[in-house]
Amino acid sequence: MVKKIVRKVAHATRNWLQEENNGVAAQKGPLPKEYSYQWLNHVLFPKILGSDWRPHYTWGVMQGVNLARALGIKRVSAIEFGVAGGNGLVALEEIVKVIEPVFGVEVDIYGFDTGMGLPAPDGYRDLPNVYGESQCGMDIEKLRKRLQKAQLILGLVENTIDDFIRSKPAPIAFMSDDLDYYTASMDAFKIFDGAQDMLLPRIWCYFDDIMGPTKCDFTGERLAIADFNASHEMRKISSIPGLPWALPKNHFDQVWVKKVFLAHMFDHDKYGEFDELTPMDGPELELKG
Ligand SMILES: C[S@@+](CC[C@H](N)C(=O)[O-])C[C@H]1O[C@@H](n2cnc3c(N)ncnc32)[C@H](O)[C@@H]1O
Repeated sequence: MVKKIVRKVAHATRNWLQEENNGVAAQKGPLPKEYSYQWLNHVLFPKILGSDWRPHYTWGVMQGVNLARALGIKRVSAIEFGVAGGNGLVALEEIVKVIEPVFGVEVDIYGFDTGMGLPAPDGYRDLPNVYGESQCGMDIEKLRKRLQKAQLILGLVENTIDDFIRSKPAPIAFMSDDLDYYTASMDAFKIFDGAQDMLLPRIWCYFDDIMGPTKCDFTGERLAIADFNASHEMRKISSIPGLPWALPKNHFDQVWVKKVFLAHMFDHDKYGEFDELTPMDGPELELKG
């Protein structure tokens, strides 16, 4: 039954892509090369984005899975740090169901959470003016019933992350940090210290809590990114320059675009592997002023 549904989705997706390619050809001359960044952004992304899905999850998972495909990697991991009620994790499952057959890559999904809401903030860096103990609770049993394949990893991230790393997950392709806190984010970033066989060379990241009236560069997830970068020479979390201009126009000024980052593993053996995702003869090579 499940296989039948997946086959149907794959078939429908292939038809959409065919139609869309024809449309692009008719309107704009040369087609973006299949699986190139431009093709992903302008052809595939608008087609696979479900109306009730998170564009940042859809976009990030799509990018990560496509890089895995280009590098010949058949199985990857997608992680949500901070699950609460579970709507994000459920959305991730729906997205993965559509993306897997398009790219021929399997995606393991993990959700990290205490299972009982936010722990107490640990100092000003955790933004105690915004967040407090027990906010964002979880009904564990109710959530488990909603989940089909995602694995819930319950407990403080600082207590669960080492076992997760030891379990040798498939290379991480996408991660969402929705933990709110600086301290918890630093614990989550331990994944980026992992061995290279548990990481793609570039990992798409989404940071939910980096904007707001009292957010700043010196607290919360923004500070965690800065501290990680300051303490790592060959692994860096960076914004993606020019991203708004590389997306379909209706996404240009959406907030999610400002919250998407790329973690670069410069010391990964596959970091410099030519992936053909940025064709030199494509319709749009670089963003020009
Ligand atoms: C904003 S909520 C997540 C919302 C969820 N991603 C969604 O989209 O519905 C933040 C979650 O982070 C979890 N959290 C914060 N600090 C944590 C820590 N140190 N270890 C585990 N979970 C933590 C809390 O339990 C809380 O459920």
